Amino acid sequence: MSVCIDNCEVIENSQVAENIYFLKTVAPNIAREVYPGQFCNILVSDYGTPLLRRPFSVAFREKNIIGFLYDIVGMGTELLSKVDVGEKISIEGPLGNGFNIDGSLEVALLLGGGIGIAPLPFLREKLQKRGINTLTFWGSKTSGKLNLSLFDNIYFATDDGSEGFQGNVVESVGNLWSSISHANLKAYACGPTPMLIAAQNFFQEKNVPLEISVESRMACGFGICQGCPIKSADSDEYKLVCKDGPVFNSKEVVL
Ligand SMILES: Cc1cc2nc3c(=O)[nH]c(=O)nc-3n(C[C@H](O)[C@H](O)[C@H](O)COP(=O)(O)OP(=O)(O)OC[C@H]3O[C@@H](n4cnc5c(N)ncnc54)[C@H](O)[C@@H]3O)c2cc1C
Ligand code: FES
Repeated sequence: MSVCIDNCEVIENSQVAENIYFLKTVAPNIAREVYPGQFCNILVSDYGTPLLRRPFSVAFREKNIIGFLYDIVGMGTELLSKVDVGEKISIEGPLGNGFNIDGSLEVALLLGGGIGIAPLPFLREKLQKRGINTLTFWGSKTSGKLNLSLFDNIYFATDDGSEGFQGNVVESVGNLWSSISHANLKAYACGPTPMLIAAQNFFQEKNVPLEISVESRMACGFGICQGCPIKSADSDEYKLVCKDGPVFNSKEVVL
């Protein structure tokens, strides 16, 4: 698989929930190659500040278009939110590995915490195309409706109970557990580390395989700078989130 840098025209950059933006760009070379779970490095400014590209999971792909969901947390994402439709931005990708879809899979549980929902619509689409039944769970602190069709049919959980199940996203899966078919089941999770640890514990106890997409501060994004280590579960060695991940079997790494 080849990594390329596309100069991509922005065709949408709109707010779809409080603080969450949806960026759609024309990126034919990346769109052709990208697989759910992979990410791209986006240059958010042409003026050298911030210098480093910022990593974002691919949330959407249709023909030659790819899309990203992002949260504004600092200078880079703030600048990205100001990019106008018609402008071009430099996107490097696809980077990292992707989620694995096993041949025998019948039911997939997709769990997103906060902006960790970002890679899941693309994964869900791929799973559904293969005829796999998917159940998507999204947890956030409080209600904040997403104005986006990518998020139809999902189970909400909010910490304050203002929408959907009151509790975290892993607890919301537990709440429905008895109604979920357990044959050939697999779970996929992306979100903050405490949520991933809760998912690890829950699915390990249920003996259900889990893949997690892990976040880390990154610089190069493809294994050169050694800036994104994560401890291996079965040795003293470290893996790199950008190159060996960001998707890992949950038993492979120590969170
Ligand atoms: C593989 C991967 C995929 C990602 N996918 C998405 C995505 O789809 N949507 C999205 O909104 N964000 C995603 N992120 C996180 C995103 O890259 C950061 O939020 C972004 O780089 C912040 O840039 P900034 O200049 O706005 O913030 P900065 O000014 O760099 O930082 C602002 C604050 O955010 C924290 N922060 C920055 N980067 C990270 C990070 N990687 N992990 C945890 N905390 C961080 C900093 O510690 C600081 O507190 C992803 C990160 C990785 C590694
Ligand atoms: S970000 Fe450079 S090695 Fe991972």
